[in-house]
Amino acid sequence: IGKELALTPVMGWNSWNTFGQDLTEALVIETAEAMIANGMRDLGYNYINIDDLWQLKERGADGHIVIDSTKFPRGIKYVADYLHERGFRLGIYSDASKYTCAGVCGSYGFEEIDARDFAEWGVDLLKYDYCGAPASRDTAIARYRKMGEALRATDRSIIYSVCEWGRREPWEWAREVGGHYWRTTEDIRDAWDLRESGTGLYGILDIIDKNAKLADYAFPGAWNDPDMLVIGICGKSSSINSGDVQYGCNLKEYRTHMSMWCMMAAPLLCGNDVRNMPDSVLRILTNPEIIAINQDVLGLQGRMMKKEGNCEIWMKPLDGGRVALAVMNRGDEPEEVVVPLDLLGFGKAFVRDVWLHQNVGEFEQLKLNLEPHVTAVFKLE
Ligand code: GLA
Repeated sequence: IGKELALTPVMGWNSWNTFGQDLTEALVIETAEAMIANGMRDLGYNYINIDDLWQLKERGADGHIVIDSTKFPRGIKYVADYLHERGFRLGIYSDASKYTCAGVCGSYGFEEIDARDFAEWGVDLLKYDYCGAPASRDTAIARYRKMGEALRATDRSIIYSVCEWGRREPWEWAREVGGHYWRTTEDIRDAWDLRESGTGLYGILDIIDKNAKLADYAFPGAWNDPDMLVIGICGKSSSINSGDVQYGCNLKEYRTHMSMWCMMAAPLLCGNDVRNMPDSVLRILTNPEIIAINQDVLGLQGRMMKKEGNCEIWMKPLDGGRVALAVMNRGDEPEEVVVPLDLLGFGKAFVRDVWLHQNVGEFEQLKLNLEPHVTAVFKLE
């Protein structure tokens, strides 16, 4: 039995959502420096995850993955050392087939060699994808188990992120094969709701609806992963914003995204360019009160208790008998909603608004007026 990892959801940054193929040593270092300067690291965003395309397409004749030296001229270990010295951890990416989703070298058949290389380089997290691998659930379980065992056989504690897109119910088996969190959906896009687009792509609401059903499976060390954050991407991404769709969300929608990922105890991996972000976006990512709800040690995924019109009322029990309450207006019109606090087990509660950073008073019910796509979040005790 390895050490217990990811007892609260992982927080950090991942290169894919904005940068795709344009990841380099310089980008990683500048990102880390920005996250130190803007306070993100100290708020818990301490994983810097290199996604697909850090490696070349063909494995070396010596059996090892070949690092793309145009992107990482000093290798991955150099980056890991740099990050570790500054209080970060490093994540890396591979795939359970010959090639990754973007078509470079995967780890199938070379799990032990790759896991040992990752450990030697000082990698702290592996995101393991399933592109190009057989459809069968049993094969997926076997391939993820193989890499899970290879990681555990190293002398490093490595968080294992199962990126299987939720197609073979990974919530039922990912924990058993050593996973610490597992994707529950297709890739997120930088959009509010894509149901009507006919593209089959997933926006923020589409992802919430799928992930919401899986609350029973989450606990400390084992989390549903509704994919990375798109907060602050604002349409500027060539890797996830493809096809004939209007991309980019407004700040209210990004705030809802943050609120709901926190309510659902999801990993918080931002994917925007943190070197150049407006204060309005930074404030969403770095609200310590909403982060505390995400990181609460009870580790329960919040649930929808009731729907009133287009407003969803969500509850997440917190340590010490406190409760987080979120009310999300998914509709396109302003709506008034009354939340009786006995719905959450309180006759009366002291209510704090975690986005306004204000104690609002002691109430038996809350009456709210919510703008379209806004989520209000409160802490009750
Ligand atoms: C898959 C994953 C994404 C990203 C890309 C990289 O689509 O789900 O998160 O890692 O591969 O190619």
